[in-house]
Amino acid sequence: MSTAETLDFPLKRAPLVPPRPALAPETMTPLQRMKAIRKNAITSWGVRAYQDDVIAGKFLGRNSYILNSPEAIRYVLVENYENYFRTPVGMRVLRPMLGDGLLTSKGKPWKHQRRTLAPAFTPRAVTTLVPHMLSATDEAIDELKGQRDQPVDLREAMQRMTLEIAGRTMFSLEMGEHGAALRNFVIEYSQTYAPPRFLDMLLPLSVPSPMDIGRALFRRRWTRFVGKLIRERRSMTQQLSGQQGAPRDLFDLMVSARDPETGAAFSDELLGDEVATMILAGHETTATALFWSLYLLSLDPATQDELAESVRAIAIDANTDMSKLPFARAVIDEAMRLYPPAFLIARAATGPDTVAGREIREKDVILMSPWLLQRHEKLWQDPNAFIPQRFMPGAPQPDRFAYMPFGAGPRICIGAHFALVEATLALAKIIQTFKVEVISKRPAIPVGIVTTQPDHSPVFRITRR
Ligand code: HEM
Repeated sequence: MSTAETLDFPLKRAPLVPPRPALAPETMTPLQRMKAIRKNAITSWGVRAYQDDVIAGKFLGRNSYILNSPEAIRYVLVENYENYFRTPVGMRVLRPMLGDGLLTSKGKPWKHQRRTLAPAFTPRAVTTLVPHMLSATDEAIDELKGQRDQPVDLREAMQRMTLEIAGRTMFSLEMGEHGAALRNFVIEYSQTYAPPRFLDMLLPLSVPSPMDIGRALFRRRWTRFVGKLIRERRSMTQQLSGQQGAPRDLFDLMVSARDPETGAAFSDELLGDEVATMILAGHETTATALFWSLYLLSLDPATQDELAESVRAIAIDANTDMSKLPFARAVIDEAMRLYPPAFLIARAATGPDTVAGREIREKDVILMSPWLLQRHEKLWQDPNAFIPQRFMPGAPQPDRFAYMPFGAGPRICIGAHFALVEATLALAKIIQTFKVEVISKRPAIPVGIVTTQPDHSPVFRITRR
């Protein structure tokens, strides 16, 4: 049974209606469509994308299908997942930063990496990383205390905090000057090299596009930087030589990881790609989840007060049982429903197939969008309203393939538990300390390029509770 049929709590919130395209998608020329997607994929979707089960289209000579049917998505992401891989344009954009790491590999190398890395992301392993998460969160909160009653850019604060958490959980290193350099790499990449150009979409992957030259030069600088971080961390290990104790961080866990079948460790090059993948896949997405959570809470002071009350008497430390923070977790879940940091999961078919009754040819594109699915009119009651209670223990569980901020199937986000622990703890601590208000009158419009970013950083005011 879908959540739409079974929810019974009051629907009291003002709807957050998604932005619509200026032109009806069916009437756009391919060039207009490409421009619209490049600028903001979210505004390229019309009303039908929130109502229909399958939206078939053609894009640059290929068939493309947006799937909104949980059953069809289950088929593509689980049952026949090996027939689908990232699109050529996706690979073009991701590989210069992530190399051949977990997110960008497939087949046997992917299986090897996935089973080797899995033990580093179990709930038990993540527990060992919580002190790093908390120390970086506490420092971010201390910094925010200095900005009380002043205009604050919480989006930037969340990005710096999650980057610091990524650095500490990965390397036990305080990010210091590396943090600034890393952020500059991320900003340069996401602004210059990540948005696909016309030729990136048109040319086969084997033929470099003009932008690929810039991407290759970028990759040289980027891998040198990641190599420097790894050397620094290794020399730290040598200073603390001889200790055989418990792993201190993700780096220790990844260095000691062995393929359970072959016993093989990662090569240095692959280790660099995994480090880059984990830092990049993890920090911007989690910062985005926290930003939208704080934004939604500032638009809904009653829910914010409810959250503050729910965490008021809880001492949040490394021993905190996450089940004590159900409302903080529900706010994160609901914010990720309305503003999923990864708004699109795209696949290209590697061979023929039949999906939702449609003939699929090799190279056809299948799009599954957490953004569309999680606001779909058939799948959710009052889909555009912010109602964290949907995710409280005891509420009916949404369909596994209708709510998927972390994807689904064998390629589901390996860092999902890590991210949920990090975001829940940070949100609980922030709201325990501050009352958060948004001062900007201009609404934050979501822009889907790599992640779901606001079109501008709204100005917030924070006051001590
Ligand atoms: C709120 C935070 C996060 C969100 C919303 C998110 C979302 C996702 C999604 C949707 C996928 C599936 C992509 C696909 O199937 O095409 C994915 C994969 C992945 N994520 Fe995350 N992620 C988050 C945090 C993290 C963190 C903290 C890490 C690592 C520390 C991480 C590492 C990865 C990796 C390595 C993959 C690829 C897995 C594979 O292909 O086997 N993510 N993530």
